[in-house]
Amino acid sequence: MNKNKTVYVAMSADLIHPGHLNIIHTAEQYGEVVVGVLTDTAIASYKRLPYMDFEQRKVIVENLKGVHEVIPQETLDYVPNLRMLKPDYVVHGDDWKEGVQRETRQKVIDALAEWGGELIEPHYTPGISSTKLNNALKEIGTTPDIRLKKLRRLLHAKPIVRVMEAHSGLTGLIVEKTKVVKDGKNCEFDAMWLSSLTDSTNKGKPDIECVDLTSRQHTVNDILEVTTKPIIYDGDSGGIPEHFVYTVKSLERLGVSAIIIEDKTGLKKNSLFESDDLQKQDSIENICHKIKVGKDAQVTDDFMIIARIESLNLGKGVDDALLRAEAYIDAGADGIMIHSKEKDPVNLFAFCDKYQSFSKKVPLVAVPSMYSHIKEEELQKRGISIVIYANHLLRSAYPMMTKTAESILLNERAEEADANCMPIKEIISLIQ
Ligand code: SPV
Ligand code: MG
Repeated sequence: MNKNKTVYVAMSADLIHPGHLNIIHTAEQYGEVVVGVLTDTAIASYKRLPYMDFEQRKVIVENLKGVHEVIPQETLDYVPNLRMLKPDYVVHGDDWKEGVQRETRQKVIDALAEWGGELIEPHYTPGISSTKLNNALKEIGTTPDIRLKKLRRLLHAKPIVRVMEAHSGLTGLIVEKTKVVKDGKNCEFDAMWLSSLTDSTNKGKPDIECVDLTSRQHTVNDILEVTTKPIIYDGDSGGIPEHFVYTVKSLERLGVSAIIIEDKTGLKKNSLFESDDLQKQDSIENICHKIKVGKDAQVTDDFMIIARIESLNLGKGVDDALLRAEAYIDAGADGIMIHSKEKDPVNLFAFCDKYQSFSKKVPLVAVPSMYSHIKEEELQKRGISIVIYANHLLRSAYPMMTKTAESILLNERAEEADANCMPIKEIISLIQ
């Protein structure tokens, strides 16, 4: 080994396997090995959050034989670290010559050329893959503690956390597993929304807090059993403070990451209803009290109580929403959901713009059901940290189920409905 030479290796190092050791062993032959461990943000920019956080992964790599030093790699792109270190060599498995990493590889080659560095590409270790290990881990599942913490980790690592509603084990699996590759990056949902609207509707009941906590916990349990992603629970009004304490404790014990409670009182109806005659906003004082007792009741530091402001939906205006946001944050709210049923969310954006000048800020949550044309990038620019697609799986399933039922009645047989249905072969093997 030549002590005067520097060798750079970058890795996520979430699930260390012999392939990683092989790379480090090769790197060691060329000089002192500096490993750039990708930060959570760098990893979350192109795939799911790692199981272990940066500090945990760093300490593991520091203790691997042959590693001289570990530094953070803040981006997927190696170039900033390479320009800083000017290593003589970079070592990476040859598997990145093809596929989505090709561009990253080319950038490494170009950067190394600036000071005459060299890229070494040992054969990729066959038979081992992080993807396979990941799938095996997913099958083992997760624990309440790990799941609970994940939402805060996601907020830390991602510019915007993408959340989809789930109202059953099956829809939970859809949120867990659906993936698309876009611009070379894996895109998936980060978390699940336990919507009161879709949970109630799925049980054939209206969204008026008549499905009690015990029934809703059945849904939560069904989802917990088959998924690993974090859960944000729609807590409606949160009920009376004396009850809210128990709701917080129960959800936290299950490993739910956050509850959102809305500032309504009396008969709570879904906010998207046309007429709001019966819907009343609670006083700032009462909501602050509820937030405080909830915060006092939780056991961990990780559970989040997010306050939902209905001022824009109840005609109270942006200033009222801002006033409430400030008070709710002072009371201990870990996030603010600003709801709006405007098709053109001018007031919501006005709120977001003014919110930026708050001295004490918490993550902002938006639910673009009515202003669905707005893209995530725009929400992110406005300062939104969590976007919730609150009802879309149920809303897309129901019309097709109704069509199928009508078709069978009209035709007195099922053949015509077959086109609406997944093949029998697929349904019987859907859940392995
Ligand atoms: C829900 O999904 O139940 C919600 C969000 O509370 S909304 O329907 O937009 O009010
Ligand atoms: Mg709701």
